[in-house]
Amino acid sequence: MNVDYTLLAAQVRAFAESEPNWLPLLANTSALLYEVLPDLNWAGFYLNDRKNPQELILGPFQGKTACIRIAYGKGVCGTAAQSDTLQLVPNVHEFPGHIACDSASNSEIVIPLHAEGKVIGVLDIDSPLLERFDGRDAAGLLLVANALEETGDFKERI
Ligand code: SME
Repeated sequence: MNVDYTLLAAQVRAFAESEPNWLPLLANTSALLYEVLPDLNWAGFYLNDRKNPQELILGPFQGKTACIRIAYGKGVCGTAAQSDTLQLVPNVHEFPGHIACDSASNSEIVIPLHAEGKVIGVLDIDSPLLERFDGRDAAGLLLVANALEETGDFKERI
């Protein structure tokens, strides 16, 4: 897909320059990604639940209502958070333990987010298309994640 991820990352940095607080920053980033990237049915964030550190809790997103809690190690999001590795899933139905929040999802990409060297949550993007995401999307979304990590104020989430 011909998406200018460098421009997207620059837009995220511009959001943070006007307001670095994590909540509006992640809310506007999910809206931007959902608007600009073609063929998505969900784009948003799961963040560490500070009362229960081995659990992710639903954060800002665009798309249909979604699962609220995901344990570390469970599903694509929990696997990305626990292993601190990007998950590029061409067919979610072949991913052991995939959590189907929206039955329209067929492929998914999940990128861990960090603050002070620790995983604080994940960026999760879903598509109704099989094999929607490739290495260019992974590299581009890492630029977006880096922009968030470098410019956002995540102190409350650590
Ligand atoms: N599919 C995800 C759950 C989150 S929804 O896609 C929004 C997973 O398996 O972790």
